[in-house]
Amino acid sequence: MYPELKPYVVLITGGASGLGLAAAQGFAKEGATVVIADLQEAAATRVAQQLGAQHLGLACDVAQEAQVNHVVDTVIKKYGRVDVLINCAGIADQVKPTVEQDMVHFRRLLDIHLTGTYMMTKACAVHMLKQGKGNVINVSSIAGVIGLTYRNAYSAAKAAISMITRTLGCEWAAAGIRVNAIAPGYILTPLTQAIIDEGKLDKGIVERRTPMGRMGTPRHIADAMLFLASDQAEFITGVTLPVDGGYTSWGAPSDAYHEST
Ligand SMILES: NC(=O)c1ccc[n+]([C@@H]2O[C@H](COP(=O)([O-])OP(=O)(O)OC[C@H]3O[C@@H](n4cnc5c(N)ncnc54)[C@H](O)[C@@H]3O)[C@@H](O)[C@H]2O)c1
Repeated sequence: MYPELKPYVVLITGGASGLGLAAAQGFAKEGATVVIADLQEAAATRVAQQLGAQHLGLACDVAQEAQVNHVVDTVIKKYGRVDVLINCAGIADQVKPTVEQDMVHFRRLLDIHLTGTYMMTKACAVHMLKQGKGNVINVSSIAGVIGLTYRNAYSAAKAAISMITRTLGCEWAAAGIRVNAIAPGYILTPLTQAIIDEGKLDKGIVERRTPMGRMGTPRHIADAMLFLASDQAEFITGVTLPVDGGYTSWGAPSDAYHEST
């Protein structure tokens, strides 16, 4: 679909599961070389092997700067370049009243989502600036656009990711590096399935609150990532693109979707 992606080396954090996995499959299908950096080393390696011999799976906690730098060094030593970075690693927030929330989790969430995205982008940008070309795709969320009650750390981290997408997108625009973000709505992945199973998310309510009347699939997000990485998006930088079935556009005080409509 996008032949220009074929020679690219694409580094995907959190690529062992969910949205990152769909992105890995999507880029590999375009012929690109995919490196998965994930906390789950065995799953990262297994996914890379399933994609084919040219791909690589690496262990990485994106919240640890030394591990982030080690991953980027490994990619450069093995492939000589990094063309696309997808910052997709993430965890769910604690869903309980704020006064009962745990500071360890609050800090860990910010370390993974916000600081991890920042450190990985910074480490890759060193090489992208030398290349005179590069593409960063961050994963924000509808939570970073409209805010989700209880999910303080998550909503704040995702809003901050959208903001550094703007600042870095402008800083590096003339240097050939584009930085964009996607704000997924409710997408069915192991992360959201776990929240549904724990009774913290009601799928029926989400479907009624979404103008398109359904949860998205990981492929919806991967398709938007492929587009943003492609030359079709060459004049797009610094934006956060909602891919949410209309969720953040709905403002009326009623359900957004009715079976009969
Ligand atoms: N699924 C949704 O509905 C949805 C909506 C909006 C945003 N998001 C965001 O999309 C991203 C992916 O979510 P998902 O639903 O695919 O979840 P997922 O749990 O299926 O996948 C997340 C992956 O990130 C990895 N990971 C977690 N912590 C890490 C760390 N410290 N270092 C490296 N890897 C780590 C996990 O091992 C896992 O493979 C997250 O940033 C999430 O916040 C998801």
